[in-house]
Amino acid sequence: MTHPWWQTAVVYQIYPRSFADSDGDGIGDLAGILERIDYLSDTLGVDAVWLSPFYPSPMADFGYDVSDYCDVDPIFGTLDDFDRLLAAAHERGLRIIIDLVPNHTSDRHPWFLESRSSRDNPKRDWYVWRDPLADGSPPNNWLSAFGGAAWEFDETTGQYYLHSFLKSQPDLNWRNPAVKEAVFDVVRFWLDRGVDGFRLDVAHFIMKDPEFRDNPPAPSFGEDFKSMGEYDTQLHLYDKGHPDVHRVFRDLRSLLDSYEGDRFSVGEVHVFDLDEWAKYYGENLDGLHMPFNFTLVWAPWGAERFRHLVDAVDGAVPEGGWPNYVLGNHDERRLVGRYGPKQARVAAMLLLTLRGAPTIYYGEELGLTQVDIPRHQQQDPWALQEPAVESRDGCRTPMPWDGSPTAGFSPPGSSDPWLPVTDEHRAMSVEAQLAEDGSMLQLYRSLLRLRRSRPELQVGDYRSLDTAEGVFAYERWGEDGRVLVALNFSDEERVVASGSGEVLLSTALDRSGPINERLILRPHEGVVLAPAG
Ligand code: GLC
Repeated sequence: MTHPWWQTAVVYQIYPRSFADSDGDGIGDLAGILERIDYLSDTLGVDAVWLSPFYPSPMADFGYDVSDYCDVDPIFGTLDDFDRLLAAAHERGLRIIIDLVPNHTSDRHPWFLESRSSRDNPKRDWYVWRDPLADGSPPNNWLSAFGGAAWEFDETTGQYYLHSFLKSQPDLNWRNPAVKEAVFDVVRFWLDRGVDGFRLDVAHFIMKDPEFRDNPPAPSFGEDFKSMGEYDTQLHLYDKGHPDVHRVFRDLRSLLDSYEGDRFSVGEVHVFDLDEWAKYYGENLDGLHMPFNFTLVWAPWGAERFRHLVDAVDGAVPEGGWPNYVLGNHDERRLVGRYGPKQARVAAMLLLTLRGAPTIYYGEELGLTQVDIPRHQQQDPWALQEPAVESRDGCRTPMPWDGSPTAGFSPPGSSDPWLPVTDEHRAMSVEAQLAEDGSMLQLYRSLLRLRRSRPELQVGDYRSLDTAEGVFAYERWGEDGRVLVALNFSDEERVVASGSGEVLLSTALDRSGPINERLILRPHEGVVLAPAG
């Protein structure tokens, strides 16, 4: 059986502001990524890169507020830079996935400028406009995910517009067919340029209740949920995730499928009811190729918990559909900051050995710590307006390439980077870790190599196993072989009745070769084993 590239690929997410700054302005850019491309394809050995937005933007939400979907912001370079990057990636067999932000534009986007100019402008209905209630208050109780009401009153035209995020990010009206056509034209623009796929920002937000009903109050949430402040006081029944969303993704899928070369879509879908989540694959697998699976991101560390969640995800994916796993991204606390440095090594082995496409967030391969950015240097608009929320800046700091003052992120003598580089991160640089046996970077490289060399890890079946307490163990097998993965989530030694076999890789990177009957796992050690026979 052959598998399309996106099923076997390991995706690496780049936050372009923070990866590599070629021109010394302290902000990463596309030419910087191009300079580092061999790191991605060879040193690390990933298969695809997802680029967070690089489009023209006022940067109120650092590029997730797009003012032109078909160009490159001068901070990041030019369309030519993009074409060069794409060509160089393709030469190396690397796929490029770009971020599409369909739910909202910037309030500086020409579509919104027109829409807000008058009630009878032809683009009025491209956004979600509603009359105030009789007392002048907003049309309903919907809240912005970033704090406060989701409605902003527009003095000129006397109506409110909807913004599920910042007020400078007005929501597009996907019930208007012209909006869909316009965004699909954007998709065509990039497909024609040769991109391999799209990551769809807040994909489930694009369809809301057509009756605009009030959301009910929320019950309290369990510990798996990250606090979003005031937003958590409601059950978000009506302001996102309306079932009509699936029609849009079916049409998007047809558009992607009309192009050569398995063009791909993955949706950012924060839906934790797995039956609801699985609907994003489409009724006949004709929806998104995959909805991102965030189930593990805020799961408390523990073997039994992780086993339960992985089994549930693996079981929820529709027949023939492909799972995927995410452990971090530009919105989440870094893995080391969530679980600890030893745990992050076990998490790396988990991510790269489960059944499904893994996405690695830049810098996780170095085990970067979450940086505590002093309030006066913070940039994240969400945390600045919603004090209950931890700033996302701490996971967005510049990639440390070497130990120099600019960490090799910017050329020597450049402006200060947009977020600070700490000494701790300088010491964890790519250069330092390449020279260090057993480093986190060496672990990621070894895991990626192992995954490439073992089809059962890429595409094999999955089954979890009953084993020692505190250990999450599973088998992966296919026509060509079988491996056993045993992850010790505890801080004590554990003995696994594994049968004899050969250790292929340990998270400690200090052992390999045969074992007899029992696998002894040190505290926080994970092992991939090829069972004998
Ligand atoms: C998504 C992005 C996040 C952004 C938000 C609004 O959740 O990942 O960074 O702030 O959408 O566009």
